[in-house]
Amino acid sequence: MHPESTPSPQRFLTGITTTGTPHLGNFVGSIRPSVAASRLTHVQSYYFLADYHALIKCDEPARIQRSTLEIAASWLAAGLDPERVTFYRQSDIPEIPELTWLLTCVTGKGVLNRAHAYKAAVDKNQTAGNDPDADISVGLFMYPVLMGADILMFKSHQVPVGRDQVQHIEMARDMALRFNHLYGEHFVLPEAAIEESVALLPGLDGRKMSKSYDNTIPLFAPPEQLRKLIAGIVTDSRAPGEPKDVEGSALFQIYQAFASAPETQALRQAYADGIAWGDAKQLLFERIEREVAPMRERYHALINDPGKIENLLQAGASKARTVATPFMQELRQAVGLRKLGSRAAATPKSKTVKTGSPAFKQYREKNGKFYFKLVDADARMLLQSHGFDSPQEAALAISMLQKEGSAALAALEGKVMAAQGISVADLAKALQFFAPEVD
Ligand code: TRP
Repeated sequence: MHPESTPSPQRFLTGITTTGTPHLGNFVGSIRPSVAASRLTHVQSYYFLADYHALIKCDEPARIQRSTLEIAASWLAAGLDPERVTFYRQSDIPEIPELTWLLTCVTGKGVLNRAHAYKAAVDKNQTAGNDPDADISVGLFMYPVLMGADILMFKSHQVPVGRDQVQHIEMARDMALRFNHLYGEHFVLPEAAIEESVALLPGLDGRKMSKSYDNTIPLFAPPEQLRKLIAGIVTDSRAPGEPKDVEGSALFQIYQAFASAPETQALRQAYADGIAWGDAKQLLFERIEREVAPMRERYHALINDPGKIENLLQAGASKARTVATPFMQELRQAVGLRKLGSRAAATPKSKTVKTGSPAFKQYREKNGKFYFKLVDADARMLLQSHGFDSPQEAALAISMLQKEGSAALAALEGKVMAAQGISVADLAKALQFFAPEVD
């Protein structure tokens, strides 16, 4: 049985690393689908500028600042409504690095050794005959943990990403599992929502469009530059009039990413009919321009008003922190970063309760009175009794709770109370273990 009976809204979360100027691949693969998802009513979206991640790849401060502005403006120009979603900058949320540390402590070093990006860097060093870790920062090594914190902080269910990021989501899932196992159910297990089209948008040279291949078309390039870049897309040498293959044609695939099905079909026909490459490029230019031109205007207006974007991001950070701050507090509590006066300080985790079920613990205090408490499988205190004069009285109260479950709470008012942060519903659920309801 699933513990939650009412379905909660699905939460989507995605970030873009702020190291460059958004290109058509980012638009098709990330910006456009996120904006579309943010319009769905049953979805809660978190979109953010991953500027801590940017520091791993880029040591040019001005470039990081500029990229943050450009990516934020692109998202907004593409129609992201900051009222509907939570739109923020990673580095405005101090709870993210704080959570990163907690996750660091439950992540195996061996797991990170196997992360694709780190492994590729090591392989490259080895091929070059260098020390395996030459020029590799701990930041690169820790990249997946920081990303895990991004995802787990907001209890995201779905993380829309390209194929290259799937391993990171799996790692975040493992961190959540491990943490939950050690400290109780705090994290939602995230899943990758793979955008098939992301991996597929080719760049100028036919390989995946990517900053690292230097084959990108900037999303908001001025029309003349857009035309020029499109003219540079690789084609084969077939002459006008000769039928052309859509298979493996970068030009065709980019067109398809912007066009409707009938438009795509029309270009497919034109290929078969031997359209000249120059004419096909003109069609592509016009099609992209039609979609991008209105956004480009909004984009430039936004870029010229950085203060406005800054205000939006600040508002977004406040909104994000209404979730992050209390959640981080809960997590600190869970791992034992607690105020010394709090009751749990006196009750170190006992190995015997790690059985997967709640348990009553009876004990006697220096004042001579008899107490009990109810703890869950992770030794978290759920309920605390007052001091009884005899062990029999304490035992009687326990047996009432075991037999009658939460119904006994009323009768025991003043004698037992829920622990801090534990609701009556939590208690009822734990007590059900002893007094299963028959229906
Ligand atoms: N690593 C992602 C990329 O380079 C960016 C990112 C950072 C991210 N944190 C995230 C994406 C959390 C999804 C969820 O594309």
